[in-house]
Amino acid sequence: MTSERVRVPPIKCQGIKTKLVDWIRENLPGQMQGTYFEPFLGSGVVAFNVRPKRAFLTDSNPHIVAFYEQIKRGQITPLLVSKFLATEGGKLRTYGADYYYEVRDRFNSQKDPLDFLFLSRSCFNGLIRFNRSKSYNVPFGHKPNRFTKSYITKICNQVKWVSLLLRRNEDWTLACMDFREALSRAMATDFVYCDPPYLGRHIDYFNSWSDMEEKQLRETLDQSGAKFTLSTWLKNTYRTNECIDTIWAGFRMVTREHFYHIGAKETNRNSMTEALILNYEHSMSENKPINKVEQLGLFESLIPA
Ligand SMILES: C[S@@+](CC[C@H](N)C(=O)[O-])C[C@H]1O[C@@H](n2cnc3c(N)ncnc32)[C@H](O)[C@@H]1O
Repeated sequence: MTSERVRVPPIKCQGIKTKLVDWIRENLPGQMQGTYFEPFLGSGVVAFNVRPKRAFLTDSNPHIVAFYEQIKRGQITPLLVSKFLATEGGKLRTYGADYYYEVRDRFNSQKDPLDFLFLSRSCFNGLIRFNRSKSYNVPFGHKPNRFTKSYITKICNQVKWVSLLLRRNEDWTLACMDFREALSRAMATDFVYCDPPYLGRHIDYFNSWSDMEEKQLRETLDQSGAKFTLSTWLKNTYRTNECIDTIWAGFRMVTREHFYHIGAKETNRNSMTEALILNYEHSMSENKPINKVEQLGLFESLIPA
């Protein structure tokens, strides 16, 4: 049996779960009637591939939410994106880094979601990072020819896919809010998928995370009574995540190892054990298809892959 192909959204962010979506889907709970909460939406790759019937999709980063809200309202369309990236990509080709920084300044003063998309797709390593004055400060990715015809087509197809999902699905709410506020609305019949910033990593203005936030996440999840899946890490080559045995002690955990490179050298290969913390029993049979999405009450298949 095959799993449904994982599709990639138009914006990138650090900690994007593209490679883990199948594994996350595989560990989701069965029948449920409530709303799917995702309080750390990021790129949206998990929610958009899970495709819940009802969803409350939130993030503290206003630019992520504004981008998807404009798609939902039909203000950003694949055609508009195509024209915009062709024009702006042409200027990037001609003026190189200077033009990237011009767009970055423009975005920091005007906050246009299309500029956000341009930066997300031409910056260094697809990072989203803001300084204390809430200015986007990721350097240029050193590829003036970034926006080739095929790359623009690829991004437009991603926008089209997300646009179909967001526009067809009236029961999906997007909002910019802190996870504590989002989770105060969750109830025992709901499900929460949490992918907070990993402690000690990926820190920026909209993405700061400490022990205190991790404890409050546990508390707000407890208060909601909802079923939840939390993405976190167990260990890497250098460290072990102490929260697993403290804040998350007593829950079910499933792990999966993967390798990543720092820089281009093969010798810089590092391993990371990713973990999912679950507060429910999950009787996944090896014979069941990985993608059970269409069989579940909470989830609905909207668009064929
Ligand atoms: C690891 S990323 C999520 C990645 C996402 N699952 C994906 O695959 O693209 C964490 C996200 O949490 C958001 N975030 C950080 N602190 C937050 C907070 N206090 N409340 C809500 N969202 C927060 C960040 O803006 C970021 O988008």
